[in-house]
Amino acid sequence: MTSIGIHDLEMATGHHVVELADLAEFSGVAPGKYILGLGQSQMSVLSEDEDIVTMGAAAALPLLERNGTEGIRTLLFATESGVDQSKAAGVAALRLLGLPSNVRVVEMKQACYGGTAALQAAVGIVARSPEERVLVITSDNARYELDSPGEPTQGAGAVAMLISADPDVLEIEQANGISTTDVDDFWRPNDSTTAVVDGHLSVGAYLDALTGAWKDLEADGGPAIADIDRILYHQPYTKMAKKAQQRLREVTGEEISTALNPGDEPDGRDTGLTTGSIYNRRLGNSYTASIYSGLTSLLDHDDSLEGRRIGLFSYGSGCVSEFFTGVVQPGYLARRNPARAEKLLDQRVPVSIAEYRALHAAPHGTSDDQVTPKVTAGPFRFAGVTDQARQYEVR
Ligand code: COA
Repeated sequence: MTSIGIHDLEMATGHHVVELADLAEFSGVAPGKYILGLGQSQMSVLSEDEDIVTMGAAAALPLLERNGTEGIRTLLFATESGVDQSKAAGVAALRLLGLPSNVRVVEMKQACYGGTAALQAAVGIVARSPEERVLVITSDNARYELDSPGEPTQGAGAVAMLISADPDVLEIEQANGISTTDVDDFWRPNDSTTAVVDGHLSVGAYLDALTGAWKDLEADGGPAIADIDRILYHQPYTKMAKKAQQRLREVTGEEISTALNPGDEPDGRDTGLTTGSIYNRRLGNSYTASIYSGLTSLLDHDDSLEGRRIGLFSYGSGCVSEFFTGVVQPGYLARRNPARAEKLLDQRVPVSIAEYRALHAAPHGTSDDQVTPKVTAGPFRFAGVTDQARQYEVR
């Protein structure tokens, strides 16, 4: 059977960054709560002329420059923070990227899980037509209300992935574990630009979903925990991955290390909890992109992954979750580029808390006519709204 999976991937983020130590000081909270308690040091913030389309297209552009567009007949755009109730964000991305018209485009939504739904759908398309490649874009602007408990777990990021036969980076294995439950832990009503969340309920729902998905993976004939070398989790904040690792340790009885922060003493087998969270600690939550920026971080910081099996737990509140596995391919070392990701994070422009709060209050998702200021250094910009239609341009 043909091997199918992630051939190449690329990350993008917003123009600005907020230091969580500054947010803690402004909010009258001990910085340790955000930095150690949540495991977050920074969060990306979009400029007024960026959104999920510009960020997603910015992630996809270098991917297409490296790999060409031949064989791409499908673009799946996964997002929680969609900019239109009807039109898929990927249609605007298609134009910005110069993709031809014989590419089907659709948007996928299920909170932070949508990217994995897109990835699995892409694998199915390539299984049927192995000569095709599918462009998957995960892109999100994670927004909670100012002064709410969710505020320090905001962020923004995108990961674009090219799914193909005989992939260079990660072959996706067939077995998977699913857990879906109707729960009101996090959602975003059509008239709201910020998520409604019961944070503590969401933590419990996530962990219960992990137990359910793991058991379903076992029932589906998935690998034993001892045969999984690295494990990645959806990271709304990196401490959540540690909680998940603790739960998986209880469920499986395998002594996998729960040490999260660099320098923490391992308390078992190292499965990459620290290396897989280096970028997310600085990006903040990126919803659909979060587990794939975790994958980028792991690939960029671990030299011994060839032939190793990675377990990935994807969770989207509401809630749908999936535990699946993949085997790292020999080509991954040539594909990765840690310097590129570090530069992306380092070159973000810091904003004060007053500036960040003004950006948070700027029009999001409105159909009122507007012209945005030219700020972003990215390849594409959101120029504003004309006659209720969003306008995008190549910089
Ligand atoms: N130093 C170190 N750690 C500290 C601390 C300090 N000074 N003060 C608090 N902490 C720790 C707490 O002990 C807690 O750790 P624990 O989770 O291991 O018990 C952690 O910081 C968070 O504190 P908590 O009081 O639970 O924070 P909160 O009530 O403000 O809310 C969330 C935390 C995650 C629920 C909130 O940020 C949220 O709603 N986020 C959005 C939803 C989300 O991300 N859900 C995740 C599943 S999808």
